[in-house]
Amino acid sequence: MKKIIAYGVRKDEMPYFKKWDADNSDVQVKTEPKLLDDSTVDEAKGFNGVVAYQQKPYTASVLNKLGSFGIKALSLRNVGVDNVDVKALKNNGIKLTNVPVYSPEAIAELAVTDMMRLIRRSKIFDLKSLNGDLRWAPNVADEMDKMTVGIFGTGHIGRMVLKIVRGFGANVIGYDPFPNPQLKKEGIYVKTPKELYEKSDIITLHAPALKSNYHMVDAKAFSEMKDGAYLINAARGSLVDTDALIKALDSGKLQGAGLDTYENEVGNFNKNFGSFDKIPDARLKNLMKRDNVIVTPHIAFYTKVAVKNMVEFSMSANKDLIDTGKSDKLVKF
Ligand code: NAD
Ligand code: COI
Repeated sequence: MKKIIAYGVRKDEMPYFKKWDADNSDVQVKTEPKLLDDSTVDEAKGFNGVVAYQQKPYTASVLNKLGSFGIKALSLRNVGVDNVDVKALKNNGIKLTNVPVYSPEAIAELAVTDMMRLIRRSKIFDLKSLNGDLRWAPNVADEMDKMTVGIFGTGHIGRMVLKIVRGFGANVIGYDPFPNPQLKKEGIYVKTPKELYEKSDIITLHAPALKSNYHMVDAKAFSEMKDGAYLINAARGSLVDTDALIKALDSGKLQGAGLDTYENEVGNFNKNFGSFDKIPDARLKNLMKRDNVIVTPHIAFYTKVAVKNMVEFSMSANKDLIDTGKSDKLVKF
């Protein structure tokens, strides 16, 4: 009997793990609520495969331990693989799968929700009305159908954003080092990030986090943007230089930001601190307090459809790796 251990399992994932377990009688499944790290890795001894989801790094010491247990199959329940020590993975001959497409709609819909909340001043009106102020002025809104949305990264999520904002009548442009052939025919691409910044009213990030694009949205990038542009980041916090973002908001260069990701989110997001004051990260609180900034704690993926697909697709990919050493979800580095 094959044995798979799944780490970091939340309560809301359990029904999907139970269903997958019931549908796969040739596999024994163990679920572990704790994350995969040095303190929990020994539990994987005796298992054939590991399924995990966490933003915490998959470190060399954890991967070396898995390798020493003879485990060759690691499957992540999410898209991003930026927190995996690739060298250690390769040294141990461990194959990695992710869930490249679990619901691009989930992330795209949140990104567009943020755009609409910002341009219609929803947070401002919510805060005003809680203070008994039901006046309109001075918070006159913008309209999406008069705006140009610049999509940075036109993969699965970026293309879904494109489809939705076109429904609002927005003009769409995109930048991607690997353009999509269909969108290329449609002529949506600009040649450089600079051109995207210069021409967009709303810039929305949908590129993976790589070493090469760390803090790519920095002070220079903000200076290239239109005065009064909006920025949406539902991709990865490391893409944006937070200090530069705060300065761009302070100066009014940026009219607003929608942030579902934040560069220091690990240890802050998906935790209950009990009160706003107890949130330990000063820059995060600075952003959260602003009426023109929407911060959500990396919830774009968190829909029923996405959670179900993340569990089912990752478990099946792990079983495929154990059975055949192959998977259509294999991550190629
Ligand atoms: P994808 O692989 O389908 O698309 C990524 C696109 O970005 C590709 O077209 C690629 O060519 C392009 N790209 C690569 N480097 C780039 C660069 N430097 N500049 C511009 N474009 C670049 O991935 P996806 O499913 O669209 O997901 C995109 C990212 O969204 C993921 O890598 C992940 O970090 C993030 N994400 C966030 C959430 C969330 O809950 N907030 C959920 C899923 C994914
Ligand atoms: C991803 O799938 O890469 C995400 O960002 C969502 C994850 C944090 C669950």
